[in-house]
Amino acid sequence: MEIQLWREILEPYELAVDELVVKFRHLIKANRQGGKYSPIEQVNGRVKTISSILEKCQKKDVAYDQFEEKIEDIAGIRIICQFVEDIYKVAEIIHNRTDMKVKSEKDYISNVKDSGYRSYHMIVYYTVESVKGPKEIQVEIQIRTLAMDFWATIEHSLQYKYKKNMPAVLRDRLHKAADAIVVLDEEMASVRDEIMDAQNSFNLKASVVSEILTTIQNLYKVANKREVVRIQDEFFRVYNEGDLNELARFGKELDVIAESYRAQSLR
Ligand code: GTP
Ligand code: MG
Repeated sequence: MEIQLWREILEPYELAVDELVVKFRHLIKANRQGGKYSPIEQVNGRVKTISSILEKCQKKDVAYDQFEEKIEDIAGIRIICQFVEDIYKVAEIIHNRTDMKVKSEKDYISNVKDSGYRSYHMIVYYTVESVKGPKEIQVEIQIRTLAMDFWATIEHSLQYKYKKNMPAVLRDRLHKAADAIVVLDEEMASVRDEIMDAQNSFNLKASVVSEILTTIQNLYKVANKREVVRIQDEFFRVYNEGDLNELARFGKELDVIAESYRAQSLR
């Protein structure tokens, strides 16, 4: 097959990765803007290079004209979570989406790989609208915690460096590090409620403040300047006191004021 053709074949995969990254990032944003905790911390994606597709075909004895079917991770999405339980929430979200169909999953958290690797893998079918019409492709989604990702990244670079000949001492160290990562994830789970509370009130505060600022900005257009300056001073006073409940109460009062101006302007 011509290399030019390969590039063309990979185009829908590029599109799928771009689209999925946008969609998952949107989930993060939607949660945070609503003052809610996001089970997804960050999302990345990549399309396998032609050279590593060739390499994999060779290794797995896949005929070149069958690589789209046989190589499931040409399009890859990596979802990073803060906590292990978030991983299962994300897997459920993916199951419930109508734009993806789960083909298979592997739970390397319950069934840790011999290397010490932990992650949750899903292969999904996803349809993109390419220039030649709709095309259903496979996407590999890896879901893991920040700690698991740290380990996998280091282990991957060492694997790459040593290929099949990793010194036993190093292997051993990596196993010990993998055990430490399990303990770290467990420790983090036990302080999770504390962390979630802190993050929730942080996000809530950000969304309350942002709404207040928008309202004040709009009031500048309709209310008299002195009134708005008074409101603004009051906002800074409440803000500096640092009590989230007071801030929310102030926001509600402000809404009433803004509403009355709106009613006046409609008369
Ligand atoms: P592949 O031939 O790699 O696709 O193996 P597979 O089809 O059995 O899939 P598997 O779910 O085991 O692995 C898919 C991907 O997970 C790999 O391409 C890696 O990105 C990642 N992975 C799997 N095992 C390891 C591991 O031991 N270390 C690291 N760092 N990554 C791993
Ligand atoms: Mg695979």
